[in-house]
Amino acid sequence: MNSAANLNDSGLVLGIESSCDDTAAAVVERGGRILSSVVDSQAAIHADWGGVVPEIASRSHLDSIGPVVRKALDEAGVTLGDLAGIAVTNQPGLIGSLLVGLSYAKALAFAQNLPLVGVHHIEAHIYAATMELVEPLPTPAIALVVSGGHTALYEMRGPRKMEPIAQTLDDAAGEAFDKVAYLLGLAYPGGPSVSALAKEGDPKAIRFPRYRAKDKKPGFSFSGLKTSVLYHIRGGDALAPTPAPEDIPNRADIAASFQQAAVDNLVKPTLQACKERDARSILVGGGVAANRCLRACMTTEAAKLGIQVVFPSPAYCTDNAVMIAGLGWHALAEGAWADGNLDASPR
Ligand code: KG4
Ligand code: ZN
Repeated sequence: MNSAANLNDSGLVLGIESSCDDTAAAVVERGGRILSSVVDSQAAIHADWGGVVPEIASRSHLDSIGPVVRKALDEAGVTLGDLAGIAVTNQPGLIGSLLVGLSYAKALAFAQNLPLVGVHHIEAHIYAATMELVEPLPTPAIALVVSGGHTALYEMRGPRKMEPIAQTLDDAAGEAFDKVAYLLGLAYPGGPSVSALAKEGDPKAIRFPRYRAKDKKPGFSFSGLKTSVLYHIRGGDALAPTPAPEDIPNRADIAASFQQAAVDNLVKPTLQACKERDARSILVGGGVAANRCLRACMTTEAAKLGIQVVFPSPAYCTDNAVMIAGLGWHALAEGAWADGNLDASPR
C-alpha cells in the first residue's frame, strides 16, 4: 500500500507549514518547479509583544489555514484531484501551531485518499537552499540553519541524507536579533530592523564577546552576546535600570557591533565544520540567512577555502511551504508515507 508505484504521476505536492507564526501553503512539482507559494504572516499580530505568543499563533493559524490552502491551489491552477500527495511540517516548532497544520493536512489527505508525509522543518530550510540551483551542489555540504527558533549545523549528502552536527546551547541567532531590536526600540521582527540601523553604524565600535566552545568543537551560543548588549546599554553596570530606547546613545554603533558579533558567531563554527568534514559547499537557510552581512561575510570567508556558498532567495529564507512541498516530494517518491498516527513534535 505504501508504495511509490501508487503515486499519481502529476508529481504535484501540496505543502503545508504552520510551525511558528506564518501560515503557509504551496504547490511544487517534483520537488523543484514552484507553482504557487502563499504565506500569511502574523508578524503584525505579535509585534506588540516583541516575539511570538504561542497561544495567539495557534488561534491565528486556525483562521488562516483554510483560505491559505485554497489560495495556493488557485494560484497554481490545480485542484485537490490533481495532487500526487500532501507534505506537512510535523516537527520541530510550537506544538499548538504544528497541530493546526498537521490536523488540516491529515483530514485533507484522508478525505481525498492522498498519501501524506511529515516533513522536518529544519531539514526543509536546508532543502530550500538547493531548490534554485542550476548545477548540482558539490557534496558533502555543510548546512547552517539559522532562524528565530533554530541555529544548527548539519552535514548534507542528499535531500533525505542530513546528519545533525551541532545546535545552539541556548538561544537562536534570530531570537538574539529580535531581543536586541526590542532593547533598541526597533520594529519586530528584529533582524531586518537591526540590519537597517547597522548600516549607519561602525561594526568595530564596541567589541562584544564571541562564543568559543570549551570542547573546541563547532557550536553556537547567543545568550552571552545578548546579555553583553544589555549591560552595555546599561552603561556597563549590570544592575542599573535599562534606559528607554530614545535615551540610548550611539544606537547604530550598537546595532552594527552586535550584528558583526552575531555573524562571526555563525561563520566561524560553519567553516570549522567544513574543515573537519572536508566539505565542498555550504548551504545556509532560515530567516537570518536573509541578513546581508552574514551573506557577504560567509561568502568571503568560505571563498578563502575554495568553498562555494548557497543562500536561497530572501522569500525562501523565512518560513514558507515551498520548502515543505519540495522536500516532501522526495519522501513521497521514496514511499515513506505516513499513516493516521503521524504526530507533531516540538523537537
Ligand atoms: O525562518 P524564520 O522565518 O522563522 C523561524 O523558523 O524562526 O526566521 C525568523 C527570524 C526572526 O528572528 C527574524 O528576526 C530573523 O529571522 N530575520 C533576520 C533577517 N530577516 C529575518 N535576522 C537577521 N537579518 C535579517 N535580514
Ligand atoms: Zn523556520
